[in-house]
Amino acid sequence: MVHVLNHPLITHKLAIMRSKDTGTRDFRELLYEIAMLMTYEITRDLPTEKVEIETPICKMETEMIQGKKLAVVPILRAGLGMADGFLKIEPAAKVGHIGLYRDPDTKQPVLYYCKLPDDVSERLCVVTDPMLATGGSAADAISILKEKGVKNIKLMCLVGAPEGVELLQKLHPDVDVFLAALDECLNENKYIVPGLGDAGDRIFGTL
Ligand code: PRP
Ligand code: URA
Repeated sequence: MVHVLNHPLITHKLAIMRSKDTGTRDFRELLYEIAMLMTYEITRDLPTEKVEIETPICKMETEMIQGKKLAVVPILRAGLGMADGFLKIEPAAKVGHIGLYRDPDTKQPVLYYCKLPDDVSERLCVVTDPMLATGGSAADAISILKEKGVKNIKLMCLVGAPEGVELLQKLHPDVDVFLAALDECLNENKYIVPGLGDAGDRIFGTL
């Protein structure tokens, strides 16, 4: 299922990020803030359990999140910018890293690094990557997690293209995809239109 988080705060911050005049420092900060806002939505269905606490006034029964086991798995490089926001909200989550880059000629993802928590198969894994273009990188990262036995996976991206959404629905229909925006299409270089350009370069200032 695809969830497009149409929310004024997210759309406003994303509009600033999209502008070619926004520099690295602001771009990174806004990505961090949007990732925090998106984490709020992504964690909406975490199971809770009843607990009894005592306020300064009286005892009360309320709810807390039940022994959750989470992992955030950024796709390097650009996914790191969203993982930080996730960890601000869920500081106890473990972190896995999957390094993939798009071959400049074929646009196919190439794996160069993978390090995951030992108990990753028992965790809800949230894969982060700002850009879902052809969908190849996200689909490969999800396949790697499934090969390690992970059953519960969500994908958190900033901007998606219809082509990427379609590929994920075909290859990984069980994975919920969360987007801040669904854009129009891909260009001849497989960049998202209108998009925001090269996310990794804009986050790390490597333009
Ligand atoms: C970008 C982006 C995604 C991928 C999306 O990474 O961060 O990982 O492209 O494209 P896709 O959906 O067509 O696979 P890039 O390959 O530029 O690597 P980087 O993050 O290291 O810059
Ligand atoms: N990778 C990016 O960083 N941006 C795009 O638009 C597509 C892939």
